[in-house]
Amino acid sequence: MQNIKVGVVGIGRGLSFANGAKFVGMELVALCDVREERLKELGKQYNVATYTEYSKFLEHDMDAVILANYFHQHAPFAIKALESGKHVMSETMACKTPAEGVALIRAVEKSGKIYVFAENYPYFAYNQEMRRLYQAGEIGEMQYGEGEYNHSMDSRTFNLLAPGMNHWRNWIPSTYYCSHALAPIMYITDTHPIGVNALSIPRFESDKERFHVRRGDPGSVILCRMNNESVVRIMGIVMRGHSIWYRIHGTRGLMENLRTGNHSALRIVHEPWDMKEGDQPEKIYQPDFPFHAEEAKKAGHGGGDFFTTYHFAEAIRKNEEPYFNVYRGVEMAMVGIQAWRSCLNNGNHFEIPDFHKESVRKEYESDNWSPWPEDYEPGQPPPSIKGWLTPKEDEIAYARQVWKEMGYDGE
Ligand SMILES: NC(=O)c1ccc[n+]([C@@H]2O[C@H](COP(=O)([O-])OP(=O)(O)OC[C@H]3O[C@@H](n4cnc5c(N)ncnc54)[C@H](O)[C@@H]3O)[C@@H](O)[C@H]2O)c1
Repeated sequence: MQNIKVGVVGIGRGLSFANGAKFVGMELVALCDVREERLKELGKQYNVATYTEYSKFLEHDMDAVILANYFHQHAPFAIKALESGKHVMSETMACKTPAEGVALIRAVEKSGKIYVFAENYPYFAYNQEMRRLYQAGEIGEMQYGEGEYNHSMDSRTFNLLAPGMNHWRNWIPSTYYCSHALAPIMYITDTHPIGVNALSIPRFESDKERFHVRRGDPGSVILCRMNNESVVRIMGIVMRGHSIWYRIHGTRGLMENLRTGNHSALRIVHEPWDMKEGDQPEKIYQPDFPFHAEEAKKAGHGGGDFFTTYHFAEAIRKNEEPYFNVYRGVEMAMVGIQAWRSCLNNGNHFEIPDFHKESVRKEYESDNWSPWPEDYEPGQPPPSIKGWLTPKEDEIAYARQVWKEMGYDGE
């Protein structure tokens, strides 16, 4: 089996891909980042080429590129990589605007290359087990689902992850990081969202631990109408109460990972009046990975980091469409974007367009609606339902102190 030569962009999150490449038959050959000093150190450590310029990086002899650069800058990077003949795996979000989503899909189709959206949460052992059970009919058809990805953190930790007044984590609207909550439900049930209604939860003055310069709201709830008429509730993102949790109510029962205690255990429930032979009213157990368990257990994010890279390598080797292809990736980005439109319209319904259809793409190909500071102009949306918030002096001072400690000397 010949190794697939891969380059990684972004030396934060990107290093988990750099470390995992060898376990799936990939060979790391290049790293790219604008943080020159740290990049050089890592180049020596991994014994690979390093580039601070993306266009030069793309000239390196390699088959595939993994994008772990800034959250809202993936689509233009992906399009350039596809145009230079590389397969692409991209971190969330796939695109920051509907227009970018259309352009990305067209670029993937034109290139004939593999594009994988790097969602890792569907590959937790309990989510893979839920998919197996659901596909076997254990709980019938989903009528209602819930997905939560709420990653609470103190101000210091947050500032370490968000260096700079305009770092994306300081501007992201509360609905945009929705894929960790939504992707597992899509994967388990093979359904997809066709519309959203959403409400955002603003900052509260009574929250005293908020010494950062985040302009976005801390949380939101998105209701997705799925293509089988079920409803899925998505909740996140940085409110108190860390939660990674998925539940599916089907026409024949319920399944979920445990809310308390061992979160990676699975609970299956059947009504006593609706049981088939072999069913139990309640079954709780700890599922294992269906395959490659040893490799997965060594990887980050509950094994998810192994399986995203594994499926990328497999899709390239077999020249097969991956499950999390460009259409599903852009669909999840569109949930974040359209849900933000809904939040700013007090929960009104917005469609999730079907970008398989060229006629639908035409409607969105010039839709550059964007909450990011570099796109600011009249008509563009604010990052909070409270508008454009200005961080207070003590918040800025504390953030700058943490950034200085970590060696960040930018704005
Ligand atoms: N799936 C997961 O579990 C998971 C976990 C963490 C982060 N992420 C995602 O990974 C991505 C990166 O996040 P992060 O935590 O590493 O923080 P980050 O976004 O701050 O880091 C991005 C890195 O990309 C580099 N970069 C930015 N612009 C560049 C350019 N033009 N050329 C080269 N390098 C550039 C930065 O210098 C930085 O080192 C984000 O999209 C984030 O959402 C996913």
